[in-house]
Amino acid sequence: MHVAVIGTGFVGVVSAAVFASFGNDVTGLDIDQKKIDSLEKSSVPFFEPGLEELLQEAQAAGNLSFTTDYEVAIPPADIVIVAVGTPSNSDGSANLDYVYAACASLAPHLSEHAVVVVKSTVPPGTFTALKQHIDAHADVRYALCSVPEFLREGSAVADTLEAGRVVIGGEEEWAIKKLVDLHKPIPAPTVVVSAEAAQLSKYAANAYLATRITFINQIANVCEAVGADVQDVIEAFGYDARIGHHYWYPGLGYGGSCFPKDVKELAHFAEKHGDVAPLFAAISSINQERPRKILDRISQKVDGWSDKKVAFLGLSFKPHTDDLREAPSTFLIPQLLAAGATVVGFDPKAASHARSVLPVHDQFSITESLDEACSEADIIMAVIEWPEIIEHDYAPYRREGVQQWFIDLRNQFSAEDLQALGYDYSGIGR
Ligand code: UDX
Repeated sequence: MHVAVIGTGFVGVVSAAVFASFGNDVTGLDIDQKKIDSLEKSSVPFFEPGLEELLQEAQAAGNLSFTTDYEVAIPPADIVIVAVGTPSNSDGSANLDYVYAACASLAPHLSEHAVVVVKSTVPPGTFTALKQHIDAHADVRYALCSVPEFLREGSAVADTLEAGRVVIGGEEEWAIKKLVDLHKPIPAPTVVVSAEAAQLSKYAANAYLATRITFINQIANVCEAVGADVQDVIEAFGYDARIGHHYWYPGLGYGGSCFPKDVKELAHFAEKHGDVAPLFAAISSINQERPRKILDRISQKVDGWSDKKVAFLGLSFKPHTDDLREAPSTFLIPQLLAAGATVVGFDPKAASHARSVLPVHDQFSITESLDEACSEADIIMAVIEWPEIIEHDYAPYRREGVQQWFIDLRNQFSAEDLQALGYDYSGIGR
């Protein structure tokens, strides 16, 4: 099949590489010439395990090319996938400018019976407007469908190749058949529903997971208030098959490019429609306040930050990515600096990207060396659960006769072991 993928951001590049690896003839399109130049050399401007290898293989097999030209990418395409960004507006709503622009640009070049797939996350109710928008520029018979993505940064390639489900939303049977065929190599249940239901299933999944994270963070607060350990609570309640032991990591709240944005968009939509779902606004505001509240609590324990050297371990929003969007580092480091701390940030993969997001100065530096970050530190703060951070030996940084704190913000360490080394320990909900 001939496939065009519009937008070569994270979702677009992964989709293009995966569909090409299935033997389809894929063209990736972006209006940014620089991105296209670098993708032509199989170079991806972000860190995603396995992606460059997949790109190289698909390009070597002649299945994947890139262009900035709609006239090149769209006419041969049986399927056109729209994977452009939908950033948030300041009121929490989704900015659909790129989606509309892509639809207007692709429409005049569509071939008869092409399927246009919206993979960008668009709010409920967008499909009718998008259809009208394409109709205004197209003069062929085409179908508009939704195939949402559920991939996680850091495991996007595996998440696509071994997806838990393929969700296809649309009305026309001939178009659904083409999309079922395209996804056949993925060994996952395929769910065919309306375009709106498909799209909403993406929001519902992300909002549910964000709610779950917020829930366990609130239980962690209660644990701290009564002196119970949240990890014991998780161990105990997880045996209920309806609850399970997975995806319960209390921490600083959810971050990244999806959860914060999608929950806000759902909250905005719900408010606009008679406040039909006030839960999402509450989740979003609880999550946004969490890093500050946690920092205040730690500040009391460590007796303030002034003149303390803090080793801040983990700058990305989660392990195995260099993405800093809504990362704890972006909220906490400015606050620590404002409170008088000297901060050394460590990250195994995000250090160089972090330097462009968090400007370094006298009080703040960024390093790829855990040793450098931790040496002479008064407070070691383990923020992100990178394996490099969890598996490290912190004994060498202990200084006799000096009070040093180990702040474990993902509950990855044994309090007893660290206390035995002489650190004062503080975790989340324990
Ligand atoms: C998420 C969804 O998992 C994915 O299906 C969707 O397509 C995009 O959004 P991603 O943002 O890459 O993927 O990361 P994920 O691993 O789900 O984590 C999101 C945030 O939640 C991170 O900040 C993470 O630290 C946090 N989290 C996750 C917790 O705080 N506790 C948990 O138990 C799990």
